[in-house]
Amino acid sequence: MLLENKVALVTGGARGQGASHARHLADEGARVIVTDVLDDEGKATAEKIVDGGGLAEYVRLDVRDTAQWASVTEDIAVRWGAIDVLVNNAGICELSTVEETSDEEWHDVLDTNAGGVFRGCRAVVPIMKRNGGGTIVNTASVQAIRGTFGYLAYQTSKAAVLGITRSVALTHSYDNIRVNAIAPSVVDTAMFEKEMEHFKQNELFSFDDWLSAQPISRIAKPEEVSKMVIFLASDLSSYSTGGIFTVDGGLLAG
Ligand SMILES: NC(=O)c1ccc[n+]([C@@H]2O[C@H](COP(=O)([O-])OP(=O)(O)OC[C@H]3O[C@@H](n4cnc5c(N)ncnc54)[C@H](O)[C@@H]3O)[C@@H](O)[C@H]2O)c1
Repeated sequence: MLLENKVALVTGGARGQGASHARHLADEGARVIVTDVLDDEGKATAEKIVDGGGLAEYVRLDVRDTAQWASVTEDIAVRWGAIDVLVNNAGICELSTVEETSDEEWHDVLDTNAGGVFRGCRAVVPIMKRNGGGTIVNTASVQAIRGTFGYLAYQTSKAAVLGITRSVALTHSYDNIRVNAIAPSVVDTAMFEKEMEHFKQNELFSFDDWLSAQPISRIAKPEEVSKMVIFLASDLSSYSTGGIFTVDGGLLAG
């Protein structure tokens, strides 16, 4: 197993990609702390991992809340001795164009998607330094690199995730902390369903239009992204830091 005796914290782990990442980390032997603001779904995800023979627990953590980051991470460090892996996965998506984006939406999306990643790195870096190192996987998106219609605040937030990734990676490479970003394209989760509903209601794109833009002509399953997370969280990627790892079915190649 690739992560035996490691302690891994996943944000936004209640459902979707985060739940899949949590299960894959546990399958590789990690003790997983599933965190989210969806308490019932988060507890169910952790229970499912435990029922399958893994080590997991659910703890509430709103990634926008600095005080919660401090109390949750210090509590884990005291109880389990370390945080070896942080997967900054929590995110929200709004599809608004520049004219439609309110100050509130701008703030919410940036504070969750970029602010959450910043706070997560800030909270775990001292703990990882104390323990001789660790790995951080930040969730960006192809939209950090490639433009698309609307998604003004979302695209901005995901581009910021790349900046945080590079800065923390270069600052802490000598502390044996590796930090990388993943850039998925279209993954079959509640977030994608919300996007499709918006496009349908506004008569922008159909699902078939969307599919025809994917070089691998289907959307990704969450577990296909989780395999990249395991690669980056484990020693399999021992010479990779500050990088952007696409899981995009070839989208950015076009
Ligand atoms: N689905 C896609 O096509 C796609 C593509 C590229 C990147 N992403 C990114 O992948 C990540 C996971 O998204 P998903 O597709 O699983 O969608 P999802 O909506 O199913 O999951 C997002 C999770 O984040 C949690 N979350 C939201 N705000 C939070 C907060 N303030 N504190 C803690 N948790 C919070 C939600 O409760 C939810 O469990 C996100 O960062 C998203 O931007 C998704």
